[in-house]
Amino acid sequence: MYVKSFLIACFLLFLGGNYLTAQDYEYVGAGKCKMCHNKPSTGAQYKIWSESKHAKAMDVLKGDEKKDPKCIKCHATAAGVNPDLLAGLTMNEGVSCESCHGPGSGYKSLSTMKDRKKAIAKGLIIPTEKTCLKCHNDKSPNFKGFNYKEYFKKIAHPIPPKEGE
Ligand code: HEC
Ligand code: HEC
Ligand code: HEC
Ligand code: HEC
Repeated sequence: MYVKSFLIACFLLFLGGNYLTAQDYEYVGAGKCKMCHNKPSTGAQYKIWSESKHAKAMDVLKGDEKKDPKCIKCHATAAGVNPDLLAGLTMNEGVSCESCHGPGSGYKSLSTMKDRKKAIAKGLIIPTEKTCLKCHNDKSPNFKGFNYKEYFKKIAHPIPPKEGE
């Protein structure tokens, strides 16, 4: 009996703990990433993204569609997340960095970002095909099919190799 309630208590604590850490991180918006990710020498990820269809995904919605939860949940990162966690991210950013890389409040400091392991521990996501399939699926009224390799090429924003590498 006691063992059972102890185990249940542990399980609840475990759930609660995970829930809290997942909840800690906030969505800071692409402007924060721009500070460090816009130099041509390190790949200008911000510029590449801002010229991509993802950054303009709200522009293709017309009139009331821009407020329709059925559309914006895929067309704007800000619409698909807990509103309490919005800390800079706006609707007009469309599909922003944090849709794919996770909410940035925990990992965006230089000392954390420089250390991949630390950054991942603080919420950074290295996206895979699965990340894309959250939105690129047949629930989209304009679904055109999805080939990860081809689609990834169109949005690629690599860090170029440093000299001598
Ligand atoms: C204070 C500067 C700074 C800010 C702000 C910043 N980054 Fe970084 N980021 C870095 C540095 C430095 C690296 C390491 C680059 C390297 O390895 O050459 C990095 C690496 C990364 C990587 C590659 C991780 C890997 O190992 O593959 C991703 C993805 C990334 N940042 C995304 C973001 C996103 C998204 C934001 C905004 C939410 C952001 N960063 C904000 C400095 C920053
Ligand atoms: C499940 C996610 C999802 C939902 C829900 C969704 N979209 Fe999209 N939408 C996408 C994706 C992904 C694309 C990119 C098209 C592709 O390559 O498949 C897209 C593309 C579009 C385009 C560009 C047209 C084109 O041919 O590329 C328009 C316009 C659009 N969506 C309107 C809407 C409207 C209106 C709604 C709500 C009724 C909606 N979407 C709901 C994911 C979604
Ligand atoms: C939060 C939802 C979401 C996620 C996650 C997402 N996308 Fe998209 N993607 C969209 C929407 C919406 C559009 C349509 C934008 C438009 O037409 O303006 C789109 C458009 C695109 C396009 C342009 C297609 C065309 O018709 O030219 C490419 C390429 C693309 N996505 C690749 C990817 C890849 C690769 C991933 C994963 C690494 C990914 N997307 C993740 C929502 C998403
Ligand atoms: C649609 C999804 C998507 C969006 C939006 C997106 N990224 Fe990425 N990003 C990826 C994928 C996929 C990779 C490659 C991951 C891997 O290494 O396999 C990547 C890689 C990176 C890298 C590492 C590149 C390297 O060569 O190691 C950096 C830095 C980065 N992204 C920053 C950003 C920033 C900053 C933004 C917004 C301005 C952004 N990303 C927006 C999907 C996305």
